[in-house]
Amino acid sequence: MATPVNQGFSKKSLSDYAQSQRGSFEKSLKDLVEIPSVSADPQRQTDVAGAVSHAADLIRRIGGEVKVLDTGGHPMLHGRFDQSGDYPTVTVYNHLDVQPAEKTDGWTTEPFRFTAKDDRYWGRGTTDDKGPALTALWGAKYALAHSARVNIHFLWEAEEEIGSPHFEATIRQHKDRLKTASVVVSDTVWVSRSRPACPAGLRGLQGFRFILETGETDQHSGTAGGAARNPIGEMCQLIADCYDARTGEVKIPGFYDDVVPPTRSELEDLKNSGFTTAAFKKDHKFKSLRVTDPIEIMKRIWCMPTFELHGIAGGYQGPGVKTVVPPRATAIVSCRLVPDMDGKKLTKLVKDFVKKKNPDVRVEPEHGLPAYQGHTEGPHPDAIRASMKFAFGKDPVFVREGGSIGAVVSMEKVLKAPVFFLGLSLPEHGYHAPNENYDWEQAEGGMIAFADYFRRVGQMER
Ligand code: BES
Ligand code: MN
Ligand code: MN
Repeated sequence: MATPVNQGFSKKSLSDYAQSQRGSFEKSLKDLVEIPSVSADPQRQTDVAGAVSHAADLIRRIGGEVKVLDTGGHPMLHGRFDQSGDYPTVTVYNHLDVQPAEKTDGWTTEPFRFTAKDDRYWGRGTTDDKGPALTALWGAKYALAHSARVNIHFLWEAEEEIGSPHFEATIRQHKDRLKTASVVVSDTVWVSRSRPACPAGLRGLQGFRFILETGETDQHSGTAGGAARNPIGEMCQLIADCYDARTGEVKIPGFYDDVVPPTRSELEDLKNSGFTTAAFKKDHKFKSLRVTDPIEIMKRIWCMPTFELHGIAGGYQGPGVKTVVPPRATAIVSCRLVPDMDGKKLTKLVKDFVKKKNPDVRVEPEHGLPAYQGHTEGPHPDAIRASMKFAFGKDPVFVREGGSIGAVVSMEKVLKAPVFFLGLSLPEHGYHAPNENYDWEQAEGGMIAFADYFRRVGQMER
């Protein structure tokens, strides 16, 4: 039976709304994307703060009450749309910081220019995570204007891409203000455009920097080579001791000890997820893979830990052959963690192993984020299923996802509120890749899905 609060929430009214808002949505996304809020780059500190204050103004203009929270690092924003009734509060989490991007990485447009072509939007941060953030905001605007019985808060941080180092302490400090019944995160990827997905879990992350110094400056390889140690070569050897790069198998003793393998029902979900090897290869522009069986790939990207080498720095990179022995090498490494792995325990395993293999290599741990196991049953996941189906015409699959969001575990711990996911990004949107993009189809459907979800949350039994 339709109640007054349902009025205006038909698919038709919501689609008309989205269409009517397309221009203002694109303008806001353009403004935000053109602020290069690269949290990892100290030179961009002002831009990161600029993106936060720009977003704060946007929320204020729509009628929200906003506080920019100092974190000790990049600031964080908390925006509130509180209503007068005794309604539950739902908090939307997104991040406004982005990964670094250089034109020379292979961009065909300027990474920090918003380029719209047909239904697609190009630029760093369009899909991760500025586009989904604004999509949720536009969904909220509609729900609030049509008597949804919820208070809607926005918690937008600007240190997600550097492992959310100040997030937990900051939300603890402001926990009264941030009080909420539940959280919805829009920062995850579907399996494909035709298959919405919600994470049943996220992998964690433990980063490391390996540093080896065997001298002070470059030296002539004719006069010193043969006796001089080569730090880059030794680094390569150490990496090869850590893992078999061809198979991905990690050779550090104890690495797999705490891994909880996927359950039977999780394996069933993988089978029904709509994942195909061909689409995976195409979306990520791979020429070949370590394995081709789709189940094996899904297990590897969602359910198993990894050892990854992101970069080795050192030595000569210019034209021709410069015959020097370099003095130092650095390797940037990380491991994706799955339940029940512990980052601290892993750090000890890695340090001990490196010490045994090459005692001169210094290991510096970088950001550590625990793995997360999510909720797939209950009124909220059911509401998300229904809202996704309503907006996109398809039920989402709940499978674990391979990426990491540090804030998720912290929010459950500190705010004591369950976290749910309504992600809108697609594999072909190119998270962290050159030519990152987002599109109107996902934005439009996303606004509808969010508006519908807010309505449903307001009507849940309390
Ligand atoms: N949105 C991603 C997380 C993500 C990726 C979720 C893929 C689901 C699927 C997030 O912005 C991200 O990139 N996180 C980083 C954190 C790291 C830099 C500390 C990650 O996973 O590498
Ligand atoms: Mn993200
Ligand atoms: Mn990211």
